[in-house]
Amino acid sequence: MTDSIRFLMCSPDHYDVDYVINPWMEGNIHKSSRDRAVEQWQQLHHQIKDHAIVDLVTPVKGWPDMVFTANAGLILDKIVVLSRFYHKERQGEEPYFKDWFEAQGFTVHQLPRELPFEGAGDALFDREGRYLWAGYGFRSELDSHPLIAEWLNIEVLSLRLMDERFYHLDTCFCPLEGGYLLYYPPAFDSYSNRLIQMRVPEEKRIVVEEADAVKFACNAVNIGQTIILNQVSEGLKAQLSGAGFQPIETPLTEFLKAGGAAKCLTLRVTEPVIEDRHTLVQVESRTIRMEGHLLDAGLINRALDLVIEGGGSFQVQRFDLGEQRQSTSCAVIRISAPSREVMAEIMSQLIDIGAVSLEAETEDACLEPIEMDGVAPDDFYVSTIYPTEVRVQGQWIQVQDQRMDGAIAITQSVGDITARCKILRDLKLGEQVVVNTIGIRTIRKPESREQRNAQEFSFMSAGVSSERRVELIVEQVAWELRKIRDQGGKVAVTAGPVVIHTGGAEHLAQLIREGYVQVLLGGNAIAVHDIEQSMMGTSLGVDMKQGIAVKGGHRHHLKVINTIRRWGSITEAVNQGVLTGGVMYECVKHQVPFVLAGSIRDDGPLPDTEMDLIKAQERYAEAIQGADMILMLSTMLHSIGVGNMTPAGVKMVCVDINPAVVTKLSDRGSVESVGVVTDVGLFLSLLVQQLDKLTHPYKI
Ligand code: ARG
Repeated sequence: MTDSIRFLMCSPDHYDVDYVINPWMEGNIHKSSRDRAVEQWQQLHHQIKDHAIVDLVTPVKGWPDMVFTANAGLILDKIVVLSRFYHKERQGEEPYFKDWFEAQGFTVHQLPRELPFEGAGDALFDREGRYLWAGYGFRSELDSHPLIAEWLNIEVLSLRLMDERFYHLDTCFCPLEGGYLLYYPPAFDSYSNRLIQMRVPEEKRIVVEEADAVKFACNAVNIGQTIILNQVSEGLKAQLSGAGFQPIETPLTEFLKAGGAAKCLTLRVTEPVIEDRHTLVQVESRTIRMEGHLLDAGLINRALDLVIEGGGSFQVQRFDLGEQRQSTSCAVIRISAPSREVMAEIMSQLIDIGAVSLEAETEDACLEPIEMDGVAPDDFYVSTIYPTEVRVQGQWIQVQDQRMDGAIAITQSVGDITARCKILRDLKLGEQVVVNTIGIRTIRKPESREQRNAQEFSFMSAGVSSERRVELIVEQVAWELRKIRDQGGKVAVTAGPVVIHTGGAEHLAQLIREGYVQVLLGGNAIAVHDIEQSMMGTSLGVDMKQGIAVKGGHRHHLKVINTIRRWGSITEAVNQGVLTGGVMYECVKHQVPFVLAGSIRDDGPLPDTEMDLIKAQERYAEAIQGADMILMLSTMLHSIGVGNMTPAGVKMVCVDINPAVVTKLSDRGSVESVGVVTDVGLFLSLLVQQLDKLTHPYKI
């Protein structure tokens, strides 16, 4: 027996499952047997006493979980960080543990009330005492880690717990002598798993399967080469023996009902102390401010969810609620993340929803030079569709050419700073690019309750639209189209071949004829099918009037391609009187420019189809410049392409029979996008009817 090793335990005189604060306790209220619990506890006590000295703290009636002394606090040398229990059901244990620690001569540190931390249940030293693994996510708050690091003068590695069955770090993670680690990887998020892999070499990681993990195999007491734990599988025991350990099983079923086992029932009082330790925490904190209709628009929930889902934690420091319907709210929130990397990820998403980091108000954006044409520095800030400003030399500069998925390039000459969104391939040596997330803000117009309600037809969450809803949207779109046309605005249409198959060609042609469309974007296929229909009456060989395949019809579209190729271009075919109707015909006749972007599956292609994709992207981008509205008609490919180039503020209407396409395009988090899940031919015919009604209101 080693004199220098001591443990603290608490006899189960008042132990019971009295409440539910973890999933193990569910269905187990008053289901544990006191006698069996006492017997099991005594056996454990015995086992530990064979290897160390056991101190006892007096149990207190009314605090049944006090047996789990691992949660009393975290000890290193003569210093204790006392637990701040997350649940009020256990907060009453705190003073009793505090008394015991003080009586033993420990210096006791107490965290502020709003920073829960559950002691050695959530914080485990590596057995060499070099650093501390600390869990967060359920019981302990990430923000407690920096304080612990400081008080104990040690490096803290924060691990995020993801599975509520493993709510304390010691339920799924157990550092062992010799640098080994016994753990259950699925209990952690991917960032934490990477951190573990970086610190513990593969040959030292003993991975526990779920079947053993749920028997609390990781909740083990390790003293030297001995491991005391609840009953586990033969396989795991063999693994432990293989690593030079001696597993000793002791049944702890009665304590499992409260969500604890061997390790929970003990607190190691003497931890190995090494002299050359130093405080180090990766935890980063930032403070953000959000303004707008935070509650009404659900922005505050979005922000907080985003922080938690991203692996961070938050503390709302101020929330000034807008009291009137029209007044906005303001929130100041402190965000913490386990590392810089995680923080950058969270911050960029918060910036997208309009949060401004308070640090950003006083710090310039970080710039890094382009070192190779067409390649950005690793941490480049990825742009969004929202109007963005970056802080350079103390001034906020509005970013030009706003689009998503670009980098923000800065060029500075005396007295003149420009910021521009650029796609990667356009970045040039000598330019500077914004990296990280400091000094960046996006401007989100606060949408009022009325505006949102007016957008009632953006019913994405409802998924599939009812007939009436389609009608409502058609009415709105018709009204917008009229307004834009009358004001000399610009409407861009992206259309896929489905428009033709579903009988929409005549309607789209009418829209073009009547001046509702200013530019048409598509691929080779829409043009080919449209021309096939107007020259041969079929679309992909199917008779458009009777809906049946025409014998030999599959050759029609190749014949059509061939004809246009003979004339050199669609325009020439129209001018020569070869092509006399349809969508492409109307474009030529009414000088509506069109861009056809090619793809690998194109037949032909038509001479007009741009097969150089980079050129096609550039021509698309140019074509949609200044558009007020974009109608996306059943073409996932071209619509997504266009969506990526379009800044917020442009109305987008996406029509597709496939809800997934509509969701993808409409869900840009902006008010302007509207999705319609319906047959595009039907949509166009309703739209044309509606426009006719607006033009001839008295016609019946
Ligand atoms: N019922 C106790 C709780 O939920 C069990 C504590 C287990 N302790 C531990 N270190 N894992 O808090």
